[in-house]
Amino acid sequence: MTTALITGSTAGIGAAFARRLAADGHNLVLVARDTRRLREQATELHDRHGIEAEVVTADLATDDGIETVAARLADRRNPVDLLVNNAGFGNKGRYLDVSMADELMMLKVHCEAVLRLTSAATEAMRERGRGGVVNVASVAAFVPRGTYGASKAWVVQFTQGAAKDLAGSGVRLMALCPGFVRTEFHQRAGMGTDNIPGWMWLDADKLVAAALNDLARGKSVSIPDPRYKVMMGVVKVVPRGLLGGLSSRTGRKYGPQ
Ligand SMILES: NC(=O)c1ccc[n+]([C@@H]2O[C@H](COP(=O)([O-])OP(=O)(O)OC[C@H]3O[C@@H](n4cnc5c(N)ncnc54)[C@H](OP(=O)(O)O)[C@@H]3O)[C@@H](O)[C@H]2O)c1
Repeated sequence: MTTALITGSTAGIGAAFARRLAADGHNLVLVARDTRRLREQATELHDRHGIEAEVVTADLATDDGIETVAARLADRRNPVDLLVNNAGFGNKGRYLDVSMADELMMLKVHCEAVLRLTSAATEAMRERGRGGVVNVASVAAFVPRGTYGASKAWVVQFTQGAAKDLAGSGVRLMALCPGFVRTEFHQRAGMGTDNIPGWMWLDADKLVAAALNDLARGKSVSIPDPRYKVMMGVVKVVPRGLLGGLSSRTGRKYGPQ
């Protein structure tokens, strides 16, 4: 039986990964800050699918939290076969509306934690000659869009580079770039969603199924929906200056996260 570790497993996209991987028979290591919620999730997934679900309470905005999860990933006696770096959040507002503390916290969770956890996991995976990492980025990685977009652009670039460096080692890395997904994300950030057209919303379970399919096919970047694939194709040919202006002005409060 293989083991998957998912950060931010208790809600939204992380919870969809947990449901799908448990249904497929993987043991799980569930990571988030809310211990009560983690325990309830572990019990439910164990009871429903007969898998082992371990709980690790960790705040990935802290060094202690990152080190706790990195130590679990580095444990050679209890190997982790698949890491899903999914924990993340949004900050409401444009550049300079967001406090420096919140900006730095975003970089810690979206970039530093992803770097340190990917490294802890892939070192152990490379020794075994197999393993996988899914780093959850966003389509916001492809447009100029504040610290959020910049942090997700880092996730995409880092993951693609690491995937190339580890090619042939048996370890696969993939950046997952969703569009809008119905989760707790927008509510937690205090962002309204009324102006987002219905067709732009993705279902978390379908997203995860497509993402795991892309990982199995060896993709290093996954945009797992035809609508967003077309949009990101268009984004590639729009001049950056125009794109930056549009991105800064258009529906900012409601833009893809
Ligand atoms: N929803 C979208 O439209 C969308 C689109 C593109 C990309 N994404 C990305 O998808 C990922 C998941 O987002 P989501 O929409 O599923 O969000 P969500 O429903 O708000 O869930 C976030 C999860 O992350 C955990 N978390 C948050 N901060 C954490 C921290 N400091 N340390 C550890 N765990 C933490 C939360 O649990 P606790 O609060 O208990 O810690 C929760 O389990 C994020 O990286 C996000 O940027 C989302």
